[in-house]
Amino acid sequence: MMQQHERLLKVLVIGDLGVGKTSVIKRYVHQVFSQHYRATIGVDFALKVLNWDHKTVVRLQLWDIAGQERYGNMTRVYYREAVGALVVFDMTRLSTFQAVLKWKGDLDSKVALSNGRSVPVVLLANKCDQRRHGLCPKLPKLENFSREYGFVGWYETSAKSTMKMATAVKILINLLLILH
Ligand code: GTP
Ligand code: MG
Repeated sequence: MMQQHERLLKVLVIGDLGVGKTSVIKRYVHQVFSQHYRATIGVDFALKVLNWDHKTVVRLQLWDIAGQERYGNMTRVYYREAVGALVVFDMTRLSTFQAVLKWKGDLDSKVALSNGRSVPVVLLANKCDQRRHGLCPKLPKLENFSREYGFVGWYETSAKSTMKMATAVKILINLLLILH
């Protein structure tokens, strides 16, 4: 039988307070959702083991960084050795979209690939089940935005009803396996 390789990938999940970082991770890893909001303190971890293909097992280590950390100085420590990231915003709150570039800027200033290029980042427009609220009806397609600012791509996600997160993660892992 062919030997399977294990690949450990550290991926950050960042974005403003309450955008749903913990929720999308919980949905993706444990298939659960809770309305109850409990702010993450510092950082949390989740591991998803994926049988990627017949020769590769991916151990996806998700680092769930507290939204309030952007104002702290721990992100440099948390970001270390990360190979990719998901930047999340809340489709119902414009301010969280405006913060997306600040998060990406913070990331790019603190971590890079060994060749100096920035780590791949996927943008998640979360709470798309709330489509009729807040800025959702006005939200344009983000292809141009995402390309212009160097995101790998963007996906509408919902921790409550659907799970586009899996698609987003797949795209990111595909790229990470090529790069590493
Ligand atoms: P911090 O840890 O403070 O940075 O927040 P967070 O980004 O981890 O947000 P969290 O996952 O704790 O979610 C905040 C609130 O939004 C909770 O009440 C969740 O139930 C709710 N929420 C998260 N994702 C969704 C979603 O896709 N749809 C809806 N309707 N609510 C969501
Ligand atoms: Mg959280």
